[in-house]
Amino acid sequence: MDVVIYQSLAIFIFVLFYGVTTNSVVIEGSKGGLLGENGTEINCSYTIPEILFVSFLAFNRSSEIFEIIATYRPDRTPQLNTQGQYLNGRVTLTPITQSSKKAVMTFNQLMCIDDTSYKCEVSYLTDGGNKIPESNNITISVQVPPSKPDDVLLVHTPAVSSVITTNMMDYSSSSPSTAVTLKENKTVSASSTDKQNTTTAMKTTGHDTTTSTPYPDDDVSPNVSYTATTYSIQQTTAEQVIAEGDNITVVCTGDVGRPPAEHIFQKYLSDHTLSMTYTPTETSISEIPENCSFYRTSNITFQVTAADNNAVIRCVVISSMTDLDMYVETKPIEVHYEVSEPTITKYPNEPYYVVGENTSILLTCNSDGNPKPNYQWYKDNMLINTNENLTITDMNITNSGIYICNVTNTFNGDTHRNAKDVHINIMNKDIRQIIEVLGNPLVYVTTVKTDEKFTSSALSFSAFITSGNP
Ligand SMILES: *[C@@H]1O[C@H](CO)[C@@H](O)[C@H](O)[C@H]1NC(C)=O
Ligand SMILES: *[C@@H]1O[C@H](CO)[C@@H](O)[C@H](O)[C@H]1NC(C)=O
Ligand SMILES: *[C@@H]1O[C@H](CO)[C@@H](O)[C@H](O)[C@H]1NC(C)=O
Ligand SMILES: *[C@@H]1O[C@H](CO)[C@@H](O)[C@H](O)[C@H]1NC(C)=O
Ligand SMILES: *[C@@H]1O[C@H](CO)[C@@H](O)[C@H](O)[C@H]1NC(C)=O
Ligand SMILES: *[C@@H]1O[C@H](CO)[C@@H](O)[C@H](O)[C@H]1NC(C)=O
Ligand SMILES: *[C@@H]1O[C@H](CO)[C@@H](O)[C@H](O)[C@H]1NC(C)=O
Ligand SMILES: *[C@@H]1O[C@H](CO)[C@@H](O)[C@H](O)[C@H]1NC(C)=O
Ligand SMILES: *[C@@H]1O[C@H](CO)[C@@H](O)[C@H](O)[C@H]1NC(C)=O
Ligand SMILES: *[C@@H]1O[C@H](CO)[C@@H](O)[C@H](O)[C@H]1NC(C)=O
Ligand SMILES: *[C@@H]1O[C@H](CO)[C@@H](O)[C@H](O)[C@H]1NC(C)=O
Ligand SMILES: *[C@@H]1O[C@H](CO)[C@@H](O)[C@H](O)[C@H]1NC(C)=O
Repeated sequence: MDVVIYQSLAIFIFVLFYGVTTNSVVIEGSKGGLLGENGTEINCSYTIPEILFVSFLAFNRSSEIFEIIATYRPDRTPQLNTQGQYLNGRVTLTPITQSSKKAVMTFNQLMCIDDTSYKCEVSYLTDGGNKIPESNNITISVQVPPSKPDDVLLVHTPAVSSVITTNMMDYSSSSPSTAVTLKENKTVSASSTDKQNTTTAMKTTGHDTTTSTPYPDDDVSPNVSYTATTYSIQQTTAEQVIAEGDNITVVCTGDVGRPPAEHIFQKYLSDHTLSMTYTPTETSISEIPENCSFYRTSNITFQVTAADNNAVIRCVVISSMTDLDMYVETKPIEVHYEVSEPTITKYPNEPYYVVGENTSILLTCNSDGNPKPNYQWYKDNMLINTNENLTITDMNITNSGIYICNVTNTFNGDTHRNAKDVHINIMNKDIRQIIEVLGNPLVYVTTVKTDEKFTSSALSFSAFITSGNP
C-alpha cells in the first residue's frame, strides 16, 4: 500500500518537474526592425540544466514549415544550418556555455526575408532518451518607412453631359512647396509603361496647359514623355472644364512602406485653410517585391462647389515612422460657377437725389462667378455701360428711373445670366422741401416710385399728397 502511494507521489513529482521544464523554453526578442538596420535580436531562454544544443527555427513562408536555421552547442562556435545559409554574414550568433541559460541571435542589415516567425528548441538527454522541447513563436516585422506619394491624379466627371469626356489632370510633385510654383525642369523623355517605377513621373501628351517654360525640344511632343511637376490634360473629346456640381475623383498613388501606411486626403481652400479631411473611399495595396514595402492606390470622389475654386487636394501619408509633411498636393483646381445675383451699391447712398445738391451718383454692381462676370447696365432697355460701375453725372430728373445690372458668364458652351435693378430718384429742390416738411420722406418716396408723373412734375406731386393726406 505504502509502495503504491510513494510510486504515485514519485510520478506526480516527475510529471510536475518535467512538465515545468519542458515548458520552459521561451523565445523573446525585438518584434520588429527597420529594413537594413542592425540590432534586431531574438533570445532563446531555457531552464534545462544540461543541454546538447539550442536551435533557432524560422518559418519558411513558401514551404510553410519551420526550418532550423542556426544551432548552438555549448562551448562550440554556433553554426548556421543549411536552411540558414541565407543569413550568412548578416547575423551574430553569441556562443553559449553549459551554464548559459540563453542563446542570442542578432540580425544585422535586416532584410525582407527576415520578416517571419521564429521559435527555438532545446535538446537534452533524459533517462527516457533525447528530448527536444520547443518554444512558443515570435514574429519579426520588418518595417519600411513610407515615401511621399508619387502622384495625385484628378479625374473629372462632368455633371450634365451627353458627351462623355475623360478629362484627366495629372499632378505630381517632388516636393509640396514646388507644387505651387510649378516651374520645374523636364527630366526624362522615354516612353515606358512601368507602373512600379513612377517616382514623380507622369505622362504628358504635349497638351501642356501650364504657363509653361517652352521646352527647347518641344518638337518631340508627339512622343510620350515624362515631366516632373507639370500639369497636363489628356483629352479624348472637346474639353469640359470643371463646373460647380461636377464630381471629381482624386487618385493618390505611392510607396507606403511596411506595414502599409494609410492615405488621407485634405482639401485646402484658396485661402490655405483646411476645409475638409476625407478618408479614401477606395484603397488598394500591392507588395513591392524588391523592398517588401507596399504600394497603395487610394481615391476619393466628391462634388465640387463654387467655394472649392482654387482649392488644392493634398494626399497625406499617415505614418508614425516619418514626419508629418509626407504629402503631395494638386495644383489649385479651377471650378467654374455661374454668376450670382448681383448686389448694387449706391454712392452716396440716399433714398433720393436732389438736382443742384448731388453732383453725381456712382452705382456699383457686384456679382460673383467664374469666369468673371460680364456687366451690362440698362436703363429703359438701353445699354448704357459695360462694366460694373455706372456714374450718373447728369443730375436731371429725367434720369430718374430703374437701372438694371445684368451679369453673364459662359463656360462649357452655356451662358449663365442674372440681374438686379435699383430705383434712382432724382428730384428738384422744391419737391425735396415739400417732403421734408411732411416729415418722413421715405414713405412718400416709396409710394411715389410707382407714380411716373411725380418724378417729372412738382405740381402733380403736391396734388398727389393733398389727395393722399385728408
Ligand atoms: C536578449 O538578450 C540580450 C543579451 O543578453 C539582452 O540584452 C536583451 O535585453 C534580451 N532581449 C530580450 C527581449 O529579452
Ligand atoms: C551593421 O552591421 C554591419 C556588419 O554586420 C556593419 O558593416 C554595419 O556598419 C552596421 N551598420 C550600422 C548602422 O551599425
Ligand atoms: C523556403 O522553402 C523553399 C521551398 O522549399 C526553398 O526553396 C527556400 O529556399 C526556402 N527559403 C529559405 C529562406 O530557406
Ligand atoms: C505562432 O503562435 C501563434 C500563437 O501561439 C499561432 O497562432 C501562430 O499560428 C504561430 N505561427 C506560426 C507561423 O506557426
Ligand atoms: C456626383 O455625386 C453625387 C453624390 O455622390 C451624386 O448624387 C451625383 O449623381 C453625382 N453626379 C454625377 C454627375 O456623377
Ligand atoms: C533646372 O535646371 C537648371 C540647369 O540645369 C538647374 O540649375 C536647376 O536647379 C534645375 N531646377 C530644378 C527644379 O531641377
Ligand atoms: C526604376 O528606376 C531605376 C532608375 O531610374 C532603375 O534602376 C530600376 O531598374 C527601375 N526599376 C524597375 C522595376 O524598372
Ligand atoms: C519619338 O518617336 C519617334 C518614332 O517613334 C522616334 O524615332 C524618336 O526617336 C522619338 N523621340 C524621342 C525623343 O524619344
Ligand atoms: C477608385 O478606386 C477603385 C478601387 O481601387 C477603382 O475601381 C476605381 O476605378 C478608382 N476610380 C478612379 C476614377 O480611378
Ligand atoms: C469700379 O469702382 C470701384 C470702386 O470705386 C473701383 O475699385 C473699380 O476699379 C471700378 N471698376 C472699374 C471697371 O472702373
Ligand atoms: C433735363 O433734361 C431735359 C430733357 O433732356 C432737358 O430739357 C432739361 O433742360 C434738362 N434740365 C437740366 C437742368 O439740365
Ligand atoms: C437682363 O436680365 C433680365 C433678367 O434676367 C432679363 O429679363 C433681360 O432680358 C436681360 N436683358 C438683357 C439685355 O439681356
